[in-house]
Amino acid sequence: MARLFFALWPDGAASKALARLAAAVAPLAGGKPVPEGRMHLTLAFLGEVAPERVAVARQVGVAGVPVELALDRLGAFRGAKVAWAGPAQPAPALLELQARLASELRRRGFALESRPFHAHVTLVRGIERPVPVAPVAPIAWTAGAVALVQTQPGTGRYATLQEWELRD
Ligand code: 2AM
Repeated sequence: MARLFFALWPDGAASKALARLAAAVAPLAGGKPVPEGRMHLTLAFLGEVAPERVAVARQVGVAGVPVELALDRLGAFRGAKVAWAGPAQPAPALLELQARLASELRRRGFALESRPFHAHVTLVRGIERPVPVAPVAPIAWTAGAVALVQTQPGTGRYATLQEWELRD
């Protein structure tokens, strides 16, 4: 089985800014900051996928325009014990891309979470104290591709299986 998800990866400058924010939040909230290279915004989480279904995930049609992101809000999920950065007002292009991808995945038989999409980049895992929602200086980048990523068992490292370019 392969643990898969679709995500947008920040560019180098945005990853650095997210890592700096994570390093500032971690001492306040407790928990472990996400390493710079692992920062991402998940569009769809597939969970454990059987080998023959991995090929189906790779064939999913993903199309859309580049997405401008501006993460300007800090917050936390108490249940999942994570602190995150997210857009206060997600760009319509982001919501459209996520909705189209989710419906395409469901059409192909993948069971996705029924919770509404909450665009965020997890900054710190295992937080011990609540993080109130607060504005932060926007961390912006233009996402030009969607990645299908596998979480490596044991190490928790990520491997990109496939990328789809987003074009105007
Ligand atoms: P998170 O950052 O909020 O933890 C890989 O695990 C990616 O899939 C993470 O970005 C994670 O979101 C996301 N994800 C969504 N639902 C998940 C779930 N039920 N279990 C684990 N990861 C999930």
